[in-house]
Amino acid sequence: MKTIQVNGTALSVEGVDPQTPLLWVLRDHLGLTGTKFGCGRMLCGACTVHVDGSSTRSCLLPIAGLEGKTITTIEGLSPDGDHVVQKAWRDHDVPQCGYCQSGQIMSACSLLAKNPKPSDADIDQAMSGNICRCGTYPRIRAAIHAAAAAREGK
Ligand code: FES
Ligand code: FES
Repeated sequence: MKTIQVNGTALSVEGVDPQTPLLWVLRDHLGLTGTKFGCGRMLCGACTVHVDGSSTRSCLLPIAGLEGKTITTIEGLSPDGDHVVQKAWRDHDVPQCGYCQSGQIMSACSLLAKNPKPSDADIDQAMSGNICRCGTYPRIRAAIHAAAAAREGK
């Protein structure tokens, strides 16, 4: 395996053990450090990226299975941080320590792509795999509603 498709570009993974989890390839090999390591056991969501548009935990996902797949990281959402979800996050001052937030945003984006007007229950269910030790859940919910409204107004 020579390349993986990340944020619209084929990036070289030559020489990387194909069993290496995507998270470490992104962070250590490709320098994309927006995706975070939390638990390393697919339990916290800090490492969430999109694979073919769906929220995926990257911490235990070997790159061997990613041939032909499209990966998007937090860096690929928008060139200037102006994705509608990122704007809503800023408007609602969502982050506290910030550590979990790129994973939260990636999950929120894939929720809105599938369900443009989620209810509170939809949000709670879709976001339940993303843990925030700072307890920013009420602001996350508010920001997702705001992003949904902003998308609808476009
Ligand atoms: S670091 Fe991957 S789910 Fe926690
Ligand atoms: S903002 Fe601190 S863990 Fe979520």
